[in-house]
Amino acid sequence: MTALTLSTAGAATLRADALVVGVATSGKALVVAPGAEAVDKAFDGRLAAVLETLGASGAEGEAIKLPAPAGLKTPVVLAVGLGAAPEDGAAFDAEALRRAAGTAARTLTGAKKAAFALPVTAPGDAEAIAEGALLGAYAFTAYQDRGKDAKLPPAEIVLLGGKPRDKAFKAAAERALALTEEINRARDLINMPPNDLTPAAFAATAQAAGKEHGLKVQVLDEKALAKGGYGGILGVGAGSQNPPRLVRIAYTHPDAERTLALVGKGITYDSGGISLKPAGHNETMKCDMSGAAAVFAAVVAAARIGLAVNVTGWLALAENMPSGSATRPGDVLRMYSGKTVEVLNTDAEGRLVLADALTKASEENPDAIVDVATLTGAMVLALGNRTFGIMANDDDYRTAIHEIAGEVGEQSWPMPLPADLRKGMDSPTADMANMGERMGGGLVAGLFLKEFVGEGITWAHLDIAGPAFHEGAPYGYTPKGGTGSAVRTLVKLAERTADGDV
Ligand code: BES
Ligand code: MN
Ligand code: ZN
Repeated sequence: MTALTLSTAGAATLRADALVVGVATSGKALVVAPGAEAVDKAFDGRLAAVLETLGASGAEGEAIKLPAPAGLKTPVVLAVGLGAAPEDGAAFDAEALRRAAGTAARTLTGAKKAAFALPVTAPGDAEAIAEGALLGAYAFTAYQDRGKDAKLPPAEIVLLGGKPRDKAFKAAAERALALTEEINRARDLINMPPNDLTPAAFAATAQAAGKEHGLKVQVLDEKALAKGGYGGILGVGAGSQNPPRLVRIAYTHPDAERTLALVGKGITYDSGGISLKPAGHNETMKCDMSGAAAVFAAVVAAARIGLAVNVTGWLALAENMPSGSATRPGDVLRMYSGKTVEVLNTDAEGRLVLADALTKASEENPDAIVDVATLTGAMVLALGNRTFGIMANDDDYRTAIHEIAGEVGEQSWPMPLPADLRKGMDSPTADMANMGERMGGGLVAGLFLKEFVGEGITWAHLDIAGPAFHEGAPYGYTPKGGTGSAVRTLVKLAERTADGDV
């Protein structure tokens, strides 16, 4: 885990292994961003000129290392691009700061202590820089023995320009640390190989976190699920040697006036089941518990930040495997709600586990339910790899979540739930089928879930199948592998729920 400190030290006087400065484009010229004045001075005011000679433009994603001149207490200066400089005097965009800080932290492997001299005018800037740096400094090393030569990202991050004695700056730093530690914990869970992260292992992790942070955690094991009639979760888990779990993890605040329920899809491995996925590239299907990881992280982060709202997380955990005991296409499951579902395709399993969890969550009559799931390939086709889809039974709630996501730097897009797609899920045998028309498959899945939400409860569904797991080269603060998609949106949503704004 990376340590974070705010410092009022000057950029030229602080001792560190590397010093990060920002550069931006202003018209055709490159400009050094505020915060790095002392660094520029150490370069005799020629920092921009030197960087331009080296081909820098200030574009987002750019990272150029320079040997530090005499007069600085760090051996290396790293210039990261912030993109277009804002119109005179305006603050830099929070997401530009977050990404640049992330790029810096990722670039500085081998540097133990990194000081950031990026533009900070308000606590929000420090928060964004801290978030980007701490998310960028993530590395998943649990399964590698690289020995003592391992070049790890910085273990110590110092934000210059932050005021450590100012209440608002302190709160911003603490918030950023809690949030990013939980996002990185979600990433660890997503990246963990599925032979180790079974439903029981995930549930045990939730129980340990509950103890650590004073959260109430209840786990329904396969016996309790059978007794309770959770046909969806049991049906999906039936083929696996690793039995399913339903976890309830609850954070309550004494002054809370509202309760937000979060439901996460937690398929620890999705082979497709009897409707087996074709061979090739299926190792990424360990990411199919990203929704549950996001919900888990959001509940713990809300608790650590101390939001004045109750947040109840429901983790629907199962492994989708083919075997002699697996659910077959043609089987009918009696769901926890009492509804019967004909399984036409065992690879449409996420909606089955979520349905039971949605019904269960509805029993407590929360003010709203938000589910998060790597639910459909169709959503990836529609929105690409970096944007999650938002569906809801309330247009204003859907809009609010879309706007919140934008504020915290997560790409999302509102999607409809067209009623005409419902009839495709009619079944000749059961109350409904777990599949409908192929076209609009992401919306069909949303319509399926909608039927398991309690009467009159505001509900939204986030399909994070695209952004949950990043297969390309790392960029900004996004690493390869699990990303922690949706956590920032959920925590901000909980905050807005506490404030009574949504
Ligand atoms: N877990 C997958 C969806 C997915 C796809 C997640 C790509 C992450 C990346 C889900 O369980 C699934 O298999 N969905 C099917 C549904 C279909 C059978 C109706 C799909 O999208 O093909
Ligand atoms: Mn599937
Ligand atoms: Zn799945």
